[in-house]
Amino acid sequence: MLDFITQKKHDENRQGEAFAPEQAGAQQFSKRFYIESYGCQMNFADSEVVASILQEGGFGATRNYEEADLIFINTCSIREKAEQTVRKRLHDLRKVKVNKPGALIGVLGCMAERLKAKFLEEEKLVDLVVGPDAYRTLPSLITEAEGGQKAVNVLLSREETYADIAPVRLNSDGVSAFVSIMRGCNNMCSFCVVPFTRGRERSRDARSIIQECEALFNEGYKEVTLLGQNVDSYYWVDEKNDTTVNFANLLEQVALIDPLLRVRFSTSHPKDITDEVLYTMAKYENICRYIHLPVQSGSTRVLQLMNRTYTREWYMATVDRIMAIMPDCGISSDIIAGFCSETEEEHQETLSLMEYSKYDLSYMFFYSERPGTLAARRYKDDIPEEVKKRRLDEIVKLQNRLSHESNLRDLGKTFKVLIEGDSKKSENDWKGRTSQNKMMVFPKADHKVNKGDYVMVKVTGCTKATLLGEIV
Ligand code: 5AD
Ligand code: SF4
Repeated sequence: MLDFITQKKHDENRQGEAFAPEQAGAQQFSKRFYIESYGCQMNFADSEVVASILQEGGFGATRNYEEADLIFINTCSIREKAEQTVRKRLHDLRKVKVNKPGALIGVLGCMAERLKAKFLEEEKLVDLVVGPDAYRTLPSLITEAEGGQKAVNVLLSREETYADIAPVRLNSDGVSAFVSIMRGCNNMCSFCVVPFTRGRERSRDARSIIQECEALFNEGYKEVTLLGQNVDSYYWVDEKNDTTVNFANLLEQVALIDPLLRVRFSTSHPKDITDEVLYTMAKYENICRYIHLPVQSGSTRVLQLMNRTYTREWYMATVDRIMAIMPDCGISSDIIAGFCSETEEEHQETLSLMEYSKYDLSYMFFYSERPGTLAARRYKDDIPEEVKKRRLDEIVKLQNRLSHESNLRDLGKTFKVLIEGDSKKSENDWKGRTSQNKMMVFPKADHKVNKGDYVMVKVTGCTKATLLGEIV
């Protein structure tokens, strides 16, 4: 489950981005929708499916919620704070009803199921509540809501993958796109709400994934990120051709579309990543040398309570395996500080595992109990908040050092960089990423290159978060 912003992958910390595609001929739509997304990349990808369904239903996108007839928030419930943010935002958005009483406000995504009664009936904050597997019913729900009814569909599905829906690319840079390859999760990590909010795991038809990636490449995109809560358990049975496609097969098929199309993926569960995947990565230069491999904790006892089904030693062996097969591979992680009953020694084990893994980047959280999860039912959330925060602070400080050290190791090396656009600070500089997913900033100088081109860049300096270089 994905997270966090210069890093576009896996972006849990991205909050409330308003999206609207540039629409030629948008005037053909008499009504407008506005959508704001919170949480992980899966949610952002879902908003693109929603946009496609709404466009089919006759709505055009707008970036300005004040002129919208339909206002949606695509929500995340991974941590408690996300819920508070959404509630506050809904109160702000409701103010548009003063000038536009007919405007409808809807909640989409992971919070839908849990908060439908509260948002719809008790607090009367919204007109529609639609869960992540019910987006196809949006047009009829909108009609219901327009007729003054409370429109709700939060049913989860065992089959829905939206395979046939071509997402409308929202806020895209035209270079890099996200492609959802599966939905839901069967893992039941004890701290996690995802299996409850997004339902059972199901894989999307491999042919539709390949077609979507091919179409993106033909439109000029140079990078696709294959998204799923647990991509390594991707498995598609092609009954027509009597074949099966696992994640390694899928990666290979996407890599073969064109050597100029970069392939990334997220997220990998340490228990499921196979040698076959690692060898497939090593075989194709256009499959990026980067694995997001969340560890969550460095203590075997805590991992067991978390139901992660691997030990500290297993995780370390997986890191060794990755480095043996691809010595230049970047690795990042998710880490939770202060899970139920975590001792000071166990926290130290997390720190030492981070040192061992030499993470380039981590997404770090303190534990927040989520209603309905295994941990909420079985274990006491007994680590005082100040202890959680102090432990998290130590984890963050260590990660800052590790990220900086990782960048220092790159000084003097040359990397192939895909140009994503102007750097944030100056239009005289380009920004782009290395195969290892590190952001690189470098002067445009007199080189005749453009957004979407690959260039070789030598690292001449760095900050904690960014490599600085020159085109060679
Ligand atoms: N508390 C804190 N962090 C959590 N995550 C998931 N659930 C929780 C929770 N209840 C983190 C995990 C996961 C990431 C996306 O969010 O680290 O990998
Ligand atoms: Fe949640 Fe674990 Fe599934 Fe990730 S693998 S979505 S942490 S249950």
